Amino acid sequence: MKLSEYAKHLLLSSDLEDKLLPPPSVWQEETDVRPFRIEKPNRADNLKFSDVKTKIPRLEHLNQTTAKGLTLHHFANHELMAIELFAWAILAFPESPLRVKLGFIKTIQEEQTHLRLYLKRMNDFGISFGDIPLNYIFWKQVPKLGSVEEFTAVLSLSFEGANLDYSQIYAKAFAHFEDWETAEIMIRIFEDEVKHVKRGMRVFQNGKPSSMEDWDYYKTLIHFPFTPRRAKGYIFLPETRKLSGMSDEFIRLLEEYEDEYSGRVNLKTLERFQFGVDVWRKSDLPLPHQAE
Ligand SMILES: [Fe+2]
Ligand SMILES: [Fe+2]
Repeated sequence: MKLSEYAKHLLLSSDLEDKLLPPPSVWQEETDVRPFRIEKPNRADNLKFSDVKTKIPRLEHLNQTTAKGLTLHHFANHELMAIELFAWAILAFPESPLRVKLGFIKTIQEEQTHLRLYLKRMNDFGISFGDIPLNYIFWKQVPKLGSVEEFTAVLSLSFEGANLDYSQIYAKAFAHFEDWETAEIMIRIFEDEVKHVKRGMRVFQNGKPSSMEDWDYYKTLIHFPFTPRRAKGYIFLPETRKLSGMSDEFIRLLEEYEDEYSGRVNLKTLERFQFGVDVWRKSDLPLPHQAE
């Protein structure tokens, strides 16, 4: 199979199981290197893009089974979009170096694992994928992504970057309610997402003119109304960005950045969780027998 054939398979098959097909380990050489930009993926009816707004349950409600399932449903949607969008990038930017495209394949494989983890766990909570409408927030950025560096700035440095904060926040929230199994899934995904942002940073650094600062280059790659705010969770954890290879200066400027939508989350309600800015790693979680 060629990279482009696999990418098309992920985007054009409407069946969810097809989108979860792991990549082969050996690839045939690519002969056609024309860019191919798919506007939107094929999906089964219950997983099609929807403009219906569904709110993610409040953190305080994560002691309730349905709220837990619906929360994971939101995250599963992000994983599905990530699988498709890395496939999209392989087709849209075929002139990218092979190592970059193989990096995207590795990311796809890990996103597939994440999606499976979420599907299984939400089923434990009585929720199936497609039970609530799926938004397409990541896909909305696609028309503006003109280069592999712009793709990376939005997908990896911003969305996956924000996910570093969110996976920590949710690991701690699930742990707060003593759901160690879900907390462990969040941390497992966190560890992979650090690698994804790192991969993105390599594409970013390769494309950056040597005379330019990281922050200035980042800002040339994202386009209003998309702002650096989208690269952060409602709690920012600088240490996670350090792990993924961002410079201290970049992290500082990202932390300071605000736009008109910043600060809209009522952090007061989060106080009971005592999140802090410490970063949980796999080894920080109690072993299953300790958690019982
Ligand atoms: Fe993921
Ligand atoms: Fe990712």
